[in-house]
Amino acid sequence: MADKHTTLSVFTADVGGLVGHVSSHPEVVDNARERLSSAKAKKFISDYHVLRCCDDLELVITHQCGVDDREIHELAWNTFTSCREIAQDLKLYAWSRGLLDEFTGNLRGLGPGVAELEFLERSSEPVVVFFANKTGPGAWNLPLYRIFADPFNTAGLICDPAMLDGFTFTIQDIRENKAITLKTPEETHFLLALAGSTSRYVITSVSRNVGSEAAAVVSSQKYDIIGGRPAARNEPALIVRCQSGLPAVGEVMEAFSFPHLVSGWMRASHAGPLMPVPFYEANSTRFDGPPRVISAGFQVTESHLIGPHDMFDDPSFDEARKTANKVTDYLRRHGPFQPHRLPQEEMEYSSMPVVFDRIKDRFKKL
Ligand code: F6R
Ligand code: MG
Repeated sequence: MADKHTTLSVFTADVGGLVGHVSSHPEVVDNARERLSSAKAKKFISDYHVLRCCDDLELVITHQCGVDDREIHELAWNTFTSCREIAQDLKLYAWSRGLLDEFTGNLRGLGPGVAELEFLERSSEPVVVFFANKTGPGAWNLPLYRIFADPFNTAGLICDPAMLDGFTFTIQDIRENKAITLKTPEETHFLLALAGSTSRYVITSVSRNVGSEAAAVVSSQKYDIIGGRPAARNEPALIVRCQSGLPAVGEVMEAFSFPHLVSGWMRASHAGPLMPVPFYEANSTRFDGPPRVISAGFQVTESHLIGPHDMFDDPSFDEARKTANKVTDYLRRHGPFQPHRLPQEEMEYSSMPVVFDRIKDRFKKL
């Protein structure tokens, strides 16, 4: 078994919120556990863990079927749709919005977020999975840059000979649906020039320059746009492999000690700090936020998930949370003004077309 490849598949979906878009219902989460437990009992998957971040359900599954496997995606789809039925019975909020109606062979494009990594397990395989809520996939750009390319964050980039040659980043242009790979350290400036535009360029994966070993992957599928709005939207996930020539667990976590500003929050139309929280604090109550990130650490052992450890349940992140609360107070005082409110073209919910339509005839040419 040890020489077989393991696939770690992470799926996220919003199947209905407990009190608006704040949290999830325990019955929904339990149902997901039962579904995956029965798939594990039938030896169809090796292991699973179910989490939730605010109103999103998160499935972490290990198996040996590879990425984009139809049956694994179907299992996740059936799990989400059965959870949606419970949410519908309980009349949880917006239960019908997170998933399209029909499974077509792959979850990408049907609503759920998908991040998958296939790898040959090392002698010990520490992995950290992150889930965020009230933001989009560009939220990982800054921490991924810091983890894999910034020696002020990751000491190993200069202390560990195995990391001296750096990492390759794949960046997706989500407007044009194109991708480019850039190598660091030599192309750091090109990388930053793109990755700083978080609403357009999304870092989707990272691998080692030497040997091309996969190090990180982001869930970042393009949304289907219907009538100018995403048909179904999902919250971003990130998988990072750690240690032994990859950034240490602590270097990965260090990147989240700064609660950087991300786009999303209320009505997916505001900038706010990404607050790192333990599992039990992933409930976005204030102004539907501020945006949250949770982190689950696992040892992947012969395709089994040993863990999780709740990585942000640690007083060393108290200051980041305090800063996020201070930044929240400061930003909220801007009300409907930019840059707290996103530029018009980046607002997911905008009444501007309606407003403009009602007053357009009153504009006078200057
Ligand atoms: C943001 C989010 C919430 C909702 C807001 C309005 O991603 O989910 O902030 O946008 O609560 O929700 P509706 O339009 O359902 O009333
Ligand atoms: Mg949601």
